[in-house]
Amino acid sequence: MGICFNEKSNSFKLDAKDTSYIIAIVDEEQFLGHVYFGQKLPDDDVNYLMGLEESPFVPSKNNRNRMSFLDSFPTEYSTSGLGDFRESCLKVMTKSGITACGINYVTHKIYSGKPNLQGLPATFGEEKECSTLEITCLDKHLNLEVILIYTVFENLDVITRSVQVKNCSNEAIQLTKVLSACVDFDRIDMDMITLHGSWARERHINRRSITLGKQAVSSARGESSHQMNPFLAVMDKTSTEDAGEVYGFNFVYSGNFIAQAEGTQFDTTRVVMGINPEDFAWNLEPDEEFTAPEVVMVYSNEGIGKMSRTFHDLYRNHLIRGQYKDKKRPILINNWEATYFDFDTEKLISIAKEASKLGIEMLVMDDGWFGNRSSDNMALGDWIVNEEKIKGGLKYLVDEVNKLGMKFGIWFEPEMVSPDSDLYRAHPDWALHIEGRTGTLSRNQYVLDFSRREVRDYIYDSLRKILNSANIEYVKWDMNRQLSDVGNAILPPHRQREIWHRYVLGVYELMERLTTEFPQVLLENCSGGGARYDAGMLYYSPQIWTSDNTDAVERLKIQHGTSLVYPVSAMGAHVSDVPNHTVGRVTPFETRGFVALSGTFGYELDVTKIPQEDRAMIPEQVTLYHKYNDLIRTGDLYRIGNLFENPEFDCISYVSKDKSEVLVTYVQVLNRPNYHSKRIRLKGLQKDAYYRNEETNEVYSGAALMNGGVLIKGLWGDFKGKLIHFVLEA
Ligand code: DGJ
Repeated sequence: MGICFNEKSNSFKLDAKDTSYIIAIVDEEQFLGHVYFGQKLPDDDVNYLMGLEESPFVPSKNNRNRMSFLDSFPTEYSTSGLGDFRESCLKVMTKSGITACGINYVTHKIYSGKPNLQGLPATFGEEKECSTLEITCLDKHLNLEVILIYTVFENLDVITRSVQVKNCSNEAIQLTKVLSACVDFDRIDMDMITLHGSWARERHINRRSITLGKQAVSSARGESSHQMNPFLAVMDKTSTEDAGEVYGFNFVYSGNFIAQAEGTQFDTTRVVMGINPEDFAWNLEPDEEFTAPEVVMVYSNEGIGKMSRTFHDLYRNHLIRGQYKDKKRPILINNWEATYFDFDTEKLISIAKEASKLGIEMLVMDDGWFGNRSSDNMALGDWIVNEEKIKGGLKYLVDEVNKLGMKFGIWFEPEMVSPDSDLYRAHPDWALHIEGRTGTLSRNQYVLDFSRREVRDYIYDSLRKILNSANIEYVKWDMNRQLSDVGNAILPPHRQREIWHRYVLGVYELMERLTTEFPQVLLENCSGGGARYDAGMLYYSPQIWTSDNTDAVERLKIQHGTSLVYPVSAMGAHVSDVPNHTVGRVTPFETRGFVALSGTFGYELDVTKIPQEDRAMIPEQVTLYHKYNDLIRTGDLYRIGNLFENPEFDCISYVSKDKSEVLVTYVQVLNRPNYHSKRIRLKGLQKDAYYRNEETNEVYSGAALMNGGVLIKGLWGDFKGKLIHFVLEA
C-alpha cells in the first residue's frame, strides 16, 4: 500500500514510485498541513519541516497571532476569508452573505484502487496499481464537508487529487470557487513552464522565473483553449530537459481553468489549479455534493523529459480507453485541405481509389456533407446527409469506400448551430444566449446549450441516425468557437453561473454515450485545431487533432510543446500539400512524412492532384508507419533538439521500453556552413549494450551513442530530415 497514516506524527505519507508526499494534522484544531513533496523519503516523521516550534505558533499556543499563523502555514487546501491571504481554493456565498470558510480534519480512509469521479473524466487504475486516501474535513460553522481525495500510482511518480464538497447544513449555500489542488512549496527561486498559443500555433513553451505575486494561465472561454493549456510545471532554475527536479500539474478538464504560481512575502510559492472561479458559482442545496475535476501531479528528479515520460505512461495506460487504446490507428486521408466544401461522392471516391492503391486505410469526410452546408455560414445542427453532394446517399459512399478495402470516417460539430439552419429556426432558445441581447457570432455560429438534456438528446439522436446508417468507423468531433453569452432559458437566476461547468459535463455525457454505444468508432477530438487538447478529452478520444497548422516546420514546435504533457500516440498529425495552406512554406514531402510519423499519421491533401514524385513516396511512408508505429506509440520519448532554443534543428527519439531499439527523427530546419556533420547525443539507451545502425550496419555501444553521439551526414538545404533506426546487436 503506497499510503500510510502514522499515528505518532499524525501524518499521512503517500509514496509513489520515487516520490513522497506528506500531509500532517496539526494542532488541537486539526489543521491540515503540507509537509513535503519530492524525492522519496524513508522517514516516518518529517514534521520538523513545518517549523511549528518557531513563531508564529499554532493557535492553541498563541491564538493572539492566529492570522500570522494562517497566512504563513503551508496548508494542504486553502480557504478564504479567515486570515490566509494567499490564493484560496474554496470560497462560498451563504444566504446571509458570508464568503469566509475554514476546514479542519475530521476523519480519513485509505483503500486500494481509485474511485471514479461521477460524470467527469479521470485517470483509472486497478487495486494492485494504486491506493487512495480520502481526508474528510469540516467547516463546523457552515456545516460544509470537504473531502480531499488523493490517489497514488505506485509504479509511476504520480499523485492525483480531487475534492468533493457536501452541504451538510439545512440551507442552500453557493460555492463560488472550488479549486482541485494546492501545493505550498518552501521556496520561490524556481522557474515555471506553461504552454501558450493561438489558432494554428498551439502549445508553444514559455519558461520564466517565478516572482513575487501571482502568475497564472487560465481560460474563461468555455474550453481549455488555443491560448493557454491547463498545465503548469515548476522547477529548479537549474533544471533542464534531462536533470533537476520538476513538478508537473495537469488538469483533467476541458472547460474554464486556472493554473497559478504565487510567490509570497516569505519567499515560498503556492501553486493552485482548478476550475476558473471567474464567472463560476454552484448552488448546493442541503445534502447536495459538488465534485471538482482531477489534477494530476507528476514529480521528476530527472528533468522535464522524465516528467513528460511519466505523463505519457499515465495517459496511455490509465486515461485513454477504448479498443484503440493500445492499437495502431488506421492511416487516414482527410479531405478538408484537399477540397474544403467543394466535394461530392465522385470526388471523394476518386480520392479514396487513389489512396487505397497507395496503402492508405481510411477516408475521412470532413465538414460540408450535411444540410445545405456549402460554406461555413450555414446548416450546423442539421445533421442530415446532403444528397445533392453525396449522390446515392451516405451508405452508397461508405460501401464504395469499403469495397476499396478502406474504412470510412465522418466529421461532426455537435455543439454548434448556425443561425441559418432548420434547427435554429425551430429552437432559437437552444443556443446559449442572454434574453434580449444580440448574440455574439463567431464563424457565423452559436453554441448549443449542452447543459440542457433535451438539446443533448436531440443532437445525440441525429448523430446516432447517421452512425447507424452506414459502416462508419471513425468520428472527428469538432468545435469551432468559444463560449460567449453564457445564459440559458431554463435555469433559475441563482443557477445561471453553473452553465459553464454544466456545459462541459454535458459534452462529457454525450461523448460517453457515443463511445459506449459505438465502441468500434475511433473518436478524434478537434477544436479549430487544438483548442481542446487536454486530458479530459483524452478520456473519451484516444487522439486529438493537434493543430490546423499542418506545415512540417510549424508542427515541430507545436508537437514538441504538446509532448511536454501529452503522448505522441494521441497527436493527430497529417502530411499536407505545399505551399502550406496556413504559412505558405514549401517543405519536402519526405520531411512532412517524418514529422507526421511522430503522431497518429495520415494525409490531408488531394492525392489525385499532388505531384507524381510525392505520390510515389506514399507507399514508402506507409511502410515506415507500419514498421515504426508500435515503437513511436509505446516507446519512451526523448527530446534531443529544442527549436524554442535553437532554430537550426529539431531532433527526438523513441526508445522501446526494453531498450532494444531506438528511432531518431532529425529535421534540419536551417542549414549552415559546417565543416563537419552534426553530432547528436542519444538518450535513454543501455550504456553497455551494442546497437546497430540499420542503414549503415555500423555498431556502437549505447555509451558511445549517448556520450559521443551519432553523426548526421549529407543533409543539403533547409527542411531536410532523416530517420535513423538502431537495433540491439545480438
Ligand atoms: C476546424 C478543423 O480543425 C479542421 O480540420 C476542419 O475540420 C474544419 N474545422 C472544418 O470546418
